[in-house]
Amino acid sequence: MNQADNLRKMAWSARRKSFYISVSSGKGGVGKTNFSVNLAYLMCKMGKKVLLFDADLGLANVDIIINLTSKVNIKDFLEGKVGADSVLVKTDFGFDVVPASSGFVSLTKLKESDYDRLLDLFVKIDSSYDYVIFDTGAGIGENVIKFSSISDLQIVITQPEPTAVTDAYAFIKVVHNEFRLKNIYLVVNRAKTKSSGEQIYENLSSVLKKFIGVDLGFLGIIRECSEVGNSVRSQKPIVDINPDSVYSKDIVLVAKKILNLQIDRDKSLDMMNIFRGNL
Ligand SMILES: Nc1ncnc2c1ncn2[C@@H]1O[C@H](COP(=O)(O)OP(=O)(O)O)[C@@H](O)[C@H]1O
Ligand SMILES: [Mg+2]
Repeated sequence: MNQADNLRKMAWSARRKSFYISVSSGKGGVGKTNFSVNLAYLMCKMGKKVLLFDADLGLANVDIIINLTSKVNIKDFLEGKVGADSVLVKTDFGFDVVPASSGFVSLTKLKESDYDRLLDLFVKIDSSYDYVIFDTGAGIGENVIKFSSISDLQIVITQPEPTAVTDAYAFIKVVHNEFRLKNIYLVVNRAKTKSSGEQIYENLSSVLKKFIGVDLGFLGIIRECSEVGNSVRSQKPIVDINPDSVYSKDIVLVAKKILNLQIDRDKSLDMMNIFRGNL
C-alpha cells in the first residue's frame, strides 16, 4: 500500500462522516436481514441517505428479501473486476445496496488485501451516505467481528429463546472484552408481548453488567408478527407493503430511537487496525 493511500484511510478513520451500524447476533435466524432491510427503508423515509451492505458475504440474503437482481456483487469488487461505482446498486426502496455473493467459502475468510480494498470503498463513499448498515452473518466469525469493529453502533438482535439469549451474551462478551467495542445496543425480536421482551433485556443487561461490566443499551422490542412471512415471500419490506402490521409499528420506534441516539464515536485508529489486521 502506498503512503497516500494509507493517509487517506487514516483520515477516514478520524473524520468519517457516515455513521456505521452493524446488525449482528449470536445465533442465526433471529431476524437480522429483515431488520436491516426495514431499518434502511425507514431511515430513507426519514430523509437520510442509506447504504445497506450485505456483510454476510458468503451467504447473500438481502438481494432475495428485496428481489434485487444485480449482475455485480462484492466478490467482483474484491477481485478487481468492477469499481466502487458499480457495486453500489440502487433499489426501488430508496436505499442502495452492496450485494454479497452466495456459496463461496473464500468470502468467509478474507485476505488482508480484501479488507484493505473494502476500506478503499468506505473511504470513497463516505460523503455519499448518512448511514451505512452492515447486515452481518451470525456468531463470532472474523468477518462479523471486523464489520462490528468499524461500526459506531453495534446492534445485537436476539429472540426470547434461552439459546438465542445465551449466544447474544457470548457475542457481546467477545466484542466487548476482546475488541473493546462500547456502543452495543440490544433489539429483542419476535417477543410475544412488549413486557416479556423488556424482561429479556432487563435480565441480559443485568448479568452483562455484573459479570463483564458492560452497559448494554436498549433499542426496543419487535413483536412476533404473522405477516413477516408474506413480506419475505413477496420480496418487499414489510414496512412498505404493510405499514400497519405489528412489525412495522414496532420497528418505526426502533428506527426513531437510532436516529436520536447520542453516540460517542471512536475516532481512534484502533478500529481500523482491527479491521485490517489478523485477529
Ligand atoms: N418479528 C418477526 N415475526 C415473525 N417472523 C419473523 C420476525 N422477524 C423475523 N422473522 C422470520 O424469521 C426468519 C429469519 O429472519 P432473517 O431476517 O432472515 O434472520 P437472520 O438474518 O438473522 O438469519 C424469517 O423467515 C422471517 O420471516
Ligand atoms: Mg441474514
